[in-house]
Amino acid sequence: MSEELLFTKGADKSTVYEEIIPQIEALIQNEENSTANMANVAAVLKTVFSWLWVGFYIVDRNDQNLVLGPFQGPLACTRIDFGKGVCGQSYANQETIIVPDVDKFPGHIACSSHSKSEIVVPGIFKNKVYFVLDIDSKNLNEFHKEDQRYLEKIVELLVNQGFRR
Ligand code: SME
Repeated sequence: MSEELLFTKGADKSTVYEEIIPQIEALIQNEENSTANMANVAAVLKTVFSWLWVGFYIVDRNDQNLVLGPFQGPLACTRIDFGKGVCGQSYANQETIIVPDVDKFPGHIACSSHSKSEIVVPGIFKNKVYFVLDIDSKNLNEFHKEDQRYLEKIVELLVNQGFRR
């Protein structure tokens, strides 16, 4: 497949999601290494939307906390306990969490003072969360139902590729 990412600069978000989803599918469909696939998904989302931080926290082998995975953006905290922060709560509740204003979210873990809003989408297979996709924006109220729908689709593509390392 082409290694050039094609998208319409300045187009509305749903147009860009519609453009990139088939390209993400093509990128990951022949690759079974989940680290490689997460790395490319983070790169695609960071490139097209210019969000502050896009990355993954993965359930660690010890099954006790989430550990930092592939990401794009400023350095971030390495481990997040289950139930802590937005990521840990998304893990524990097995649901996507949209945070319009991080300062108003109880327990939010601030990795960067520039982050103003956030969305976390869990990667679930057979009722178990294996990882979460975490995205931070410099803008308040960046993420909405539309983002949730498309990002859940992207996470589903990753889940369907499996978790071989
Ligand atoms: N804000 C997250 C921590 C991870 S950083 O945003 C990259 C949280 O509260 O779980």
